[in-house]
Amino acid sequence: MKRVAQPVLLVVFGASGDLAKRKLIPALYHLYSQGLLHDGFALLGFARTQYSDEQFRTLMGESLREHMAGEHNGATVDEEEWAAFLEHLYYQQGGYDDDNSFARLAERIADVEEKIQTQGNRLFYLATPPEVFMAVTTLIHEHGMAAQQENAWVRLIIEKPFGHDLASAQTLNDHLAQLFAEEQLYRIDHYLGKETVQNILVFRFGNGIFEPVWNRNYIDHVQITVAESLGVGDRGGYYDQAGAIRDMVQNHVMQLVALTAMEPPVAMDAKAVRDQKVNVMQSIRPLEPDEVARQVVRAQYGAGQIDGQSIRGYLETRGIPPDSTTDTYVAWKLAIDNWRWNGVPFYLRTGKAMPHKLTEINIVFRKPPMRLFETLDDRLNVRSNILRMRIQPDESICLTFDAKRPGPVVAVDPVNMSFPYSSFGEEPADAYERLLLDAVLGDSTLFIRRDEIEVAWERVTRVLDGWQREEARAHSRGMSFSLPSYEAGAWGPTEADDLLGRDGRYWRNNLD
Ligand code: BG6
Repeated sequence: MKRVAQPVLLVVFGASGDLAKRKLIPALYHLYSQGLLHDGFALLGFARTQYSDEQFRTLMGESLREHMAGEHNGATVDEEEWAAFLEHLYYQQGGYDDDNSFARLAERIADVEEKIQTQGNRLFYLATPPEVFMAVTTLIHEHGMAAQQENAWVRLIIEKPFGHDLASAQTLNDHLAQLFAEEQLYRIDHYLGKETVQNILVFRFGNGIFEPVWNRNYIDHVQITVAESLGVGDRGGYYDQAGAIRDMVQNHVMQLVALTAMEPPVAMDAKAVRDQKVNVMQSIRPLEPDEVARQVVRAQYGAGQIDGQSIRGYLETRGIPPDSTTDTYVAWKLAIDNWRWNGVPFYLRTGKAMPHKLTEINIVFRKPPMRLFETLDDRLNVRSNILRMRIQPDESICLTFDAKRPGPVVAVDPVNMSFPYSSFGEEPADAYERLLLDAVLGDSTLFIRRDEIEVAWERVTRVLDGWQREEARAHSRGMSFSLPSYEAGAWGPTEADDLLGRDGRYWRNNLD
């Protein structure tokens, strides 16, 4: 069923930034070229840089061509279609906390709405640095732009980072709640727009055979890996304030945990799905500060090689203080205290400068109760069956089990039953396409609700508190404090191996 969007004016704050160029414009163009945007669609970009509409259009055209060439195997832009799409793009210069700029913006909105007939529907998109989230939303409100006209709607998409700890996330939520109803707020986590992430729910709840084994009776543990091979590049200024735990764990990794561990929703709608996600996140065992060091490993990458390229260590990167204690890698042994998962650890890890870009969820099943066959790889005597959901790249689902190797002796070898996503023969749409379309259609299932973001921050803030205490303790003893390190291009520090080793388990570093 084709879901065509309603008329809408999309106002993008931070329109000259990286996200707009690399993600939003390509996603909108792609939706447009598939006929999924209404003729009454307009985008009004807002940012500090001075551009005319023409200059803005040229700039967006250049980045779209670059993007298509880079990420879509040299695909080219259909020039006629692009020219038609450009007619829908406008630009307004202004300051994010400047009253006059917002007065001008309100006038411009009225002009564009009149011209393109967007019928009063407005979608504001905050793609600015988070420091101006509050100023921008206050001014939108003060200038009457958030007022919903009859038969029209106003919504707000907010990018990450949404707060830097529980208190700041709550403050931002309180602020937004004074200006918008929760139903108007679309907190984005682009992982939820990925096809393979949505497929976790289809796999679990669209099939009958997995549900009976999806619990502590059959599952030994779960491993979630979100590895990236790039270092922090030129994002040092932002990254050093965030670290892997805020940049990846609080949002993307927690979402993967929630989808893997949640109970079946009573319906596939925004309320039912998000209720279940919140429930399971509330069951994540809160850590006391003194427990943090034992359950959570943090580390920084040092110099090394990835794909034959030399990578500078994190502390030698431009913009990073030489004594920074920011985590570029986190591994967390997380317990979920509910009926389904009692006693089943979830081992999470994410890091920069790891050997490959790889996101996957490994469900490691319990071993058979007796060892009847010799395995060729005798490391573990009897191997576990593993269900591997590979989110990216080479999207796939694969079940590993043992089979008899041909020959006169009974020797057993692991084999795979595998479903590659590519067998659908369609390139998956970029996450932003799906999310933008959903926001225009008013479907917030794949966006984060207030209680969800706060419970995720609550658990993460406990880890941050534990780390802060650890550092303060070292300093009070006059000792310097530094993090464990791993060589760029390695799977993480030895401490992370020990985290599983202590439990008689090991990380699955799958490369096939
Ligand atoms: C972003 C983080 O949210 O996600 C980046 O800020 C990270 O640091 C990126 O690289 C990863 O997204 P993806 O879709 O490439 O896995």
